[in-house]
Amino acid sequence: MPVGILLVGGFGTRLMPLTKHTPKPMLTVAGLPVTEHQLAMARKAGITKVVLATSYLSELFTPYFGDGARWGMQLLYAVEEQPLGTGGAIANAAQLLTDNDESIVVFNGDVLSSHNLSEQIRQHEFHEADLTLHLTSVKDARAYGCVPTDSDGKVTAFLEKMENPITNTINAGCYVFNPKVIKSIPLHTVISVERETFPTLVKERGNVFGFLDNSYWLDIGTPNALLKGSRDLVTGIADASALETAKVSHRDRQSLIMETAKVDATAIIDEGSCIGAGAVIGAGAHISGSIIDSGAIIGQSATVRNSFIASQAIVGQNAQISAAFVTKDEILTIPA
Ligand code: GDD
Ligand code: MG
Repeated sequence: MPVGILLVGGFGTRLMPLTKHTPKPMLTVAGLPVTEHQLAMARKAGITKVVLATSYLSELFTPYFGDGARWGMQLLYAVEEQPLGTGGAIANAAQLLTDNDESIVVFNGDVLSSHNLSEQIRQHEFHEADLTLHLTSVKDARAYGCVPTDSDGKVTAFLEKMENPITNTINAGCYVFNPKVIKSIPLHTVISVERETFPTLVKERGNVFGFLDNSYWLDIGTPNALLKGSRDLVTGIADASALETAKVSHRDRQSLIMETAKVDATAIIDEGSCIGAGAVIGAGAHISGSIIDSGAIIGQSATVRNSFIASQAIVGQNAQISAAFVTKDEILTIPA
């Protein structure tokens, strides 16, 4: 069975101030950390052993995920003292997986994807490839790795973040590796797979395949994407398998309310909002398209639209919050 590595060590700079005390993959979307949604997708494809490659705020993963038994998985933790880049992180994490020759599936830790991972793994093994990249199509490829392929699906170049993209087919951040390739990445060295390992592998060995699957896919690394990802999970546009085992008190296409949240009967929760465990929503409040994290308090008759109210934050009565991040200490308007 393939094993997994989840890259969860980035700084999440674009999501400040939410990521000041919470690493990006631990941010809540649809009631659960991003990582929990990703683990459920890995589990669905038969992956039960996963290393979390942590760096920034690494100590915040273990208390929540523990040894993974709650999800029927075995979770291990690799910690980088200083971020080693995506390649260095993969090499470092793979040291915990030396006991096997199985394919290693690596996930960027900030992606929601409903693609057919089992089929990606099957094709990788059928091709006896060095590497098989999940590819997806986007309108504007500038913020991503551009990945052209030939008619057999072989990758012909890997071009990270181009100003003038030569294709709209991009790296979707889920890789199936032959473990030998990972062993060739030097240890204790800062390396980017996107800027170093992948382009070299394509050029020198040419045994890299693309797996094009245009199912639901989203990088939640920007404020608007984070909110959209949560809404899409709640409304059912994105695969929300993780919610099947979660403690949910109510779910319909408009709203998700986690157990122990207290929502006044006169409050309106709609447009894919989620209300975290222990949150309190006052009488007459209207929550639309938003994430209310665990333990947050929303006062009577307050309106919250397209916003992220972080854990333990308080929104006063009659307040009107729109397109904002609200934490215990600050409010930040989200640029359009
Ligand atoms: N452990 C560890 N150490 N993880 C890291 C490090 C590190 O030094 N640097 C980044 N990561 C993790 C981040 O936490 C994130 O989950 C993932 O690696 C990708 O980093 P991002 O910072 O989110 O990269 P990006 O979104 O600009 O681009 C990447 O993702 C795109 C798809 O969403 C690239 O892989 C692109 O090629 C790709 O198209
Ligand atoms: Mg990203």
